[in-house]
Amino acid sequence: MSNEWWKESVVYQVYPQSFKDSNDDGIGDFNGIKEKLPYLSNLGIDVIWLNPIFESPLIDNGYDISDYKKTLSSYGTIDEFKSLLDAAHNMGIKIILDLVVNHTSDKHEWFLKSKENTDNDYADFYIWKDPKEDGSAPNSWGATFGGPAWEYVESRNQYYLHCFAKEQPDLNWENPKVREHIYDMMKDWFEFGIDGFRMDVISLISKRQDYPEDPSLAYTKSYYAGASNGPRVHEFLHEMNQEVLSKYDILTVGETPNTNSEQAKLYTQPEREELNMVFHFDHMHLDYGKYGKFSDVRFKLSDLKATLSEWQYQLKDGWNSLYWSNHDQPRAVTRFGNDNEYRIESGKMLGSLLHMMKGTPYIFQGEEIGMKNVPFSSIDEYKDIETKYFYQEMKENGESEEYINKAIYLKSRDNARTPMPWDNSKNYGFSDAKPWINYSHDNDIINVKDALEDKNSIFYHYKKLIQLRKEYKVIVHGDYQLINENDSDIYSYTRKYKDETLLVICSFSPYKINYTCPEDVYNDEFKLLLSNYKDSSNQLTQNITLNPYEALIYHIKN
Ligand code: NOJ
Repeated sequence: MSNEWWKESVVYQVYPQSFKDSNDDGIGDFNGIKEKLPYLSNLGIDVIWLNPIFESPLIDNGYDISDYKKTLSSYGTIDEFKSLLDAAHNMGIKIILDLVVNHTSDKHEWFLKSKENTDNDYADFYIWKDPKEDGSAPNSWGATFGGPAWEYVESRNQYYLHCFAKEQPDLNWENPKVREHIYDMMKDWFEFGIDGFRMDVISLISKRQDYPEDPSLAYTKSYYAGASNGPRVHEFLHEMNQEVLSKYDILTVGETPNTNSEQAKLYTQPEREELNMVFHFDHMHLDYGKYGKFSDVRFKLSDLKATLSEWQYQLKDGWNSLYWSNHDQPRAVTRFGNDNEYRIESGKMLGSLLHMMKGTPYIFQGEEIGMKNVPFSSIDEYKDIETKYFYQEMKENGESEEYINKAIYLKSRDNARTPMPWDNSKNYGFSDAKPWINYSHDNDIINVKDALEDKNSIFYHYKKLIQLRKEYKVIVHGDYQLINENDSDIYSYTRKYKDETLLVICSFSPYKINYTCPEDVYNDEFKLLLSNYKDSSNQLTQNITLNPYEALIYHIKN
């Protein structure tokens, strides 16, 4: 691989808590992940991204870190993590960790000291502000999980800022000592041998120092109120790059809420020396409704085409990260495909559409077997802090139970967090103990064992997609062009590199429909690389009848 190996890689996201429990305490762990490395190697992925593995009170499932140097004991010891890392490296798989440095846990020793008084070494490690004259919070920002973004602490007679839960105080990046501590910690992990970082809400680290009021905040939350893409964010990331990142051969991907494609260039253009790529949210926002993400709105294909294409066009000299799902999102096949009659077909189609685009594809655990959203029967089955806040808030607002339940079923983050089903036995091969979150009942028919035994499973389709990326340069480097722009059921595009063209045709319709191949693409010298129907047309004719959710990938020599 080249020194830009991250451009040629496919990343697989492991949610450690729910991947594989090796010691039967109901919680996934390092040894469990290690046991399943052969499965990941069989799939063919290059990099594993692990969600936070550090010590944490787990208010937000590990995104509230109380010690960056210690691993969470329920996941295993530092030696067990090292053994996982070594085993992965021996198989040619890299591991990147989650860097959560917009905030810490309120149990982190920096915060415990910071909140004691206004005059100690850590006093300015967080964002403290005096109350307004009437004693109220410094401004009206709301926190992402609900309620105000400011929490009062008596010992300082001040408020601290938390863009997320009150147990997740925001670090003060204006303080050079904070940045120094973070960079040192990052260096320690690189010296330990990790291969990169996914950077949690990294677009939030620089706050506008005037902390503006914004009366229109009802459901927009603090992201928009001066916390995202703040004045010094690029300065900080460039500094981080120079101090740390540039010294190692690694992958960096920033999670950047509320960042448009213009802003994304600033994070990813190589000459700016910040990050390799970012996760944008534009396609995740296509089905937002009156309460933001918790809605029953379905995305429109025309919007999806416009959004994904815009990112493909804009990031010409930056780099895209490609994803349908992660631990914060519902299952792709439910959200963008058809999780009923055409679960298999639409699962493969979505994989094809994404993996043939320009950028680094990310697969979230279970996506490769077509896991779908989980119909939990009551709010008590949900564990996620965001879902619980939403439920409570909606009840207080008088929203109907029916609407609330539907929105939660469609959007709760717990859809992604149920244990990975390894087989169809009683506990689905995850653990012999009661798992920390209930299994999905669909596991009887959706599980790894069945997928591996079926040559036509989504798993093998994903495996093939990954192989194709290794074989055809056009998949890594080709220029993207949307075609048949106005077709309301079909997403088709080409990729061009030297004398090669890739033609990707994906139907989002549950019916048979006709596709007309544009004349300038149509060519005699073609090969069907992959499709999701046994009887897919092996012919590239100008008019093709597509099966429901059919996906066709043609390679054309010009
Ligand atoms: C984004 C993470 O992906 C999410 O799970 C978490 O709740 C927030 N950042 C806060 O860290």
